[in-house]
Amino acid sequence: MQKKNAKNRIDELRKLISKYSYEYHVNDAPSVSDAIYDGLFNELKQLEAENPDLITPESPTQRVGNELKGGFEKVAHASRMLSLNDVFSAEDVLKWFKRVEKMTSEKLDFFADIKMDGLACSLIYVDGKLNRAVTRGDSFIGEDVTNNVRTIRNVPLELQSSKNYPEISFGRTEIRGEILILKDDFEKINHQMIEKGQSEYKNPRNLAAGTVRQLDPKLVASRPLVFIAYDIIREDDREIRTWEQAYQILGEIGIRRNSEARRCEDLNEVVKFIDFWDKARLDLPFNTDGLVVKINNRKIYKDLGVVGKQPRAAIAYKYAAEQATTIVKDIVISIGRTGAATPVAVFEPVQVAGTTVKHASLHNADEIERLDVRRGDTVVIYKAGDIIPKVESVIMDLRPKESKKIDFEDELKRQYPELEFYRPQGEAVYRVRGAVQSVILAKSIEHYASRGAVDINTLGEKNVKALVDAGLVQDLADIYSLKFEDVVSLERFAKISAQKLIDAINNAKNPDLDKFIYGLGVRHIGAQTAKDLADKFQSLNSLRQADLDDFLEVDGIGVVVAESLAGWLFDDQNQDLLDKFTSLGVVPHYESKSDGYLSGISIAVTGTLSAMSRLEFSDLIQKNGGKFNTSVTKDTNYLVYGGKIGASKKAKAEKLGVQILSEKEFSDQVFDLTK
Ligand code: IVH
Repeated sequence: MQKKNAKNRIDELRKLISKYSYEYHVNDAPSVSDAIYDGLFNELKQLEAENPDLITPESPTQRVGNELKGGFEKVAHASRMLSLNDVFSAEDVLKWFKRVEKMTSEKLDFFADIKMDGLACSLIYVDGKLNRAVTRGDSFIGEDVTNNVRTIRNVPLELQSSKNYPEISFGRTEIRGEILILKDDFEKINHQMIEKGQSEYKNPRNLAAGTVRQLDPKLVASRPLVFIAYDIIREDDREIRTWEQAYQILGEIGIRRNSEARRCEDLNEVVKFIDFWDKARLDLPFNTDGLVVKINNRKIYKDLGVVGKQPRAAIAYKYAAEQATTIVKDIVISIGRTGAATPVAVFEPVQVAGTTVKHASLHNADEIERLDVRRGDTVVIYKAGDIIPKVESVIMDLRPKESKKIDFEDELKRQYPELEFYRPQGEAVYRVRGAVQSVILAKSIEHYASRGAVDINTLGEKNVKALVDAGLVQDLADIYSLKFEDVVSLERFAKISAQKLIDAINNAKNPDLDKFIYGLGVRHIGAQTAKDLADKFQSLNSLRQADLDDFLEVDGIGVVVAESLAGWLFDDQNQDLLDKFTSLGVVPHYESKSDGYLSGISIAVTGTLSAMSRLEFSDLIQKNGGKFNTSVTKDTNYLVYGGKIGASKKAKAEKLGVQILSEKEFSDQVFDLTK
């Protein structure tokens, strides 16, 4: 995103997040779901990480805790109630560990617990008796909620004395933890609300927070609050040496803590713990969005200190968000092989559950209507069944003033002025009038094989019709899977003509990239535009990974062409088609105009390479001016093999005088693959 746009977006997000945060923390009455709040908050964090100069102390990302609501006495915490740094992957955990490891000479072990999604609270016991309970507040000063917390049944008013640690019953003992409502109890309460005809509560955390800060302790007592601890602090911190010991003490003095928490000997065990809870966390009795990992030794923990408001020696591991917010840059239409017109939303790229999402199908005109999604809207997206991204809803508060409702019929006219569409009765989909699948298929194969495209001269109108009518080809790529026996069995072909057809098709497995792009028959992509695209992207792989903005950067490509190309490329069926071409050995070839290092050199590959996939290899060769072949011919300079070379490939190369190199030899002598 450009700097100016980033600044505007950041301002906009901050305003809205502050508003939602106020509703949530002060009024305990959020107007939007957690998914929307978290999505916007993460988007802001990501933008600030990309533009650190735009971070200001007032940003909601720079604050811990909640506003103080009033009605309770303010109490200063003996030590600040800190928050944790979030990390999102095993690599981030490793990076954290490397940073920490550098700062100490001692061998480190870890302590891991489940991160509970509740309201942080500190319990102060004096000589074993509950003296005070204070909310986190703004991290320095909290609210005295002792009367309410005394109603929580699992908070002991007096600590049990521990045989192993009798000193805990004397002096000041502070216990920190989370106040929660368990998932089952929450369901029950909401069920009762429905029966009473009242509106449901949004989530257990809000209900817990709202309850603790009620002024009427009787009402509080009627709600099933639970306290689960994660820390115990004594005036003399040498009394408790490790977190493992801290949890053991908590158990002995009658304070609930997660029995699942445990010491991890090394990083490997931490990663195992993370992997295990990825699925198992769904069965926990309370909500969680991650784990907490700390350096087990409390002295080292303390010595490592605090950066900003977060201790260096601990992190919160967050499982990848299955939802995110992003901006709809455009809505394009893809025309499928059956002539069906499918709208696709093109996004500002965003991470969802570990992958980058750039677009999502909107299915049909009714879905656009239902969501009322428009260009420029901010939307919540999620992964359905963990794979396919979908639009959940539009955040109306962020809708640009000048936005216009999408009229699907107008869009069809604008994007495809030469086509006529109709909506068959009872169907949600618009289709191209007169689109008969076999006719479209035959026409598209003829186009692919035509002189200006891939140029397979035996694939004229009549031969194509015979192949399509016999059902031997169902899509463009299928021509490469034709077998001699199938073709010769058709009345139209004799042995010689069948063999000629198969040979001609096999010889067309390395078409020029621009001819191949043109041959795909994407609407509005003529021969010249295909050339421009080939020059810009230089390989099919790069073109496949490009974004709408990349298309618009190509000289001579305007909105209509870019949208048509995006509509085609962002259609999963077409991505499958391109995969199929690749798996059938079709590798379009691009000859770099600039004199690349490998210019004039032709390279074939066999076996599995260890440095990269075959597709990446062909990309690299072509980007450096070389020619990539799937099979060895007399023009091949090098045959590169991964693993062990097959005898027949070897014999053929030797016969043709082609130099045979192992992957390593090629990397050492010709072109370094490891860089
Ligand atoms: S350890 C520096 N353990 O998450 C604070 N915290 O984002 C170290 N939380 O402030 C806290 N479950 O309110 C710890 N098992 C757990 C936790 C946990 C929830 C909360 C806590 C903390 C916040 C940090």
